[in-house]
Amino acid sequence: MIRSPLMTVMTDAVMKASRSLKRDFGEVENLQVSRKGPGDFVSAADRKAEKILRESLEKARPGYGFILEEGGVVEGTDTSHRWHIDPLDGTTNFLHGLPQFAISVGLERDGQIVAGVIYDPAKDELFIAEKGKGAYLNNRRIRVAARNDIAEAVIACGLPHIGKGDHALWLREAAAVMGYVGGMRRWGAAALDLAYVACGRLDGYWERGLSSWDMAAGILLVREAGGFVSDADGGSDPLTKKTIACGNEIIHRELLALLKKAKG
Ligand code: IPD
Ligand code: CA
Ligand code: CA
Repeated sequence: MIRSPLMTVMTDAVMKASRSLKRDFGEVENLQVSRKGPGDFVSAADRKAEKILRESLEKARPGYGFILEEGGVVEGTDTSHRWHIDPLDGTTNFLHGLPQFAISVGLERDGQIVAGVIYDPAKDELFIAEKGKGAYLNNRRIRVAARNDIAEAVIACGLPHIGKGDHALWLREAAAVMGYVGGMRRWGAAALDLAYVACGRLDGYWERGLSSWDMAAGILLVREAGGFVSDADGGSDPLTKKTIACGNEIIHRELLALLKKAKG
């Protein structure tokens, strides 16, 4: 496939940042046994990757704004464009030496996400999508899974933890979903959960309490792969609602029905 100039800019920035993350991931394992642990080291790795992404994208597309997980909102002179960036999605995994983490970069133009890149450095998997041009994994076109029996579906989710999320609601939702599906997974990197739905490894996914940088690129990937995406209550704006549910048309619909039942 031939990459557009925009996609080349995005993938170049992401690959550059990924080299730094990958080097740091190699170090993290050595730090597991130290008394202080790898916490500070990982925050530094995260910030370093974000700096590389910001500098590369600013150079190639001056004036675009940013919504950065670490750096916050940066207004640009070009008010129709802004990047949504998670330099390290799956921080807890990274911190524990678990190879399930990614860089996620989405581009918003006039309120719509028009391009997305998610890169998994540990597995060298590059997921890309541009609006109207399909979704790709390492240059191969991807589609959501065709499975339409939820009893055979593998559904991923987020999991609240100490200090985060509505634990009681999650327990009700998990109880509602688990009785109907073939399996549930919690991988710990929202961007990759979405990328995996896009390429058919997962049949569906829901989570509450996400941010735009977790989802922007992944939402476009799923849609360009033929999938359906909404917020976790079935509304049309996951980025604003900060929740998500997705899958192929049938699994998405059934998943929403189960979540609705749980909410009462
Ligand atoms: C987190 C991961 C995780 C999800 C959390 C996110 P981070 O992002 O995507 O899977 O459950 O809600 O905050 O903190 O690792 O960038
Ligand atoms: Ca992050
Ligand atoms: Ca994240």
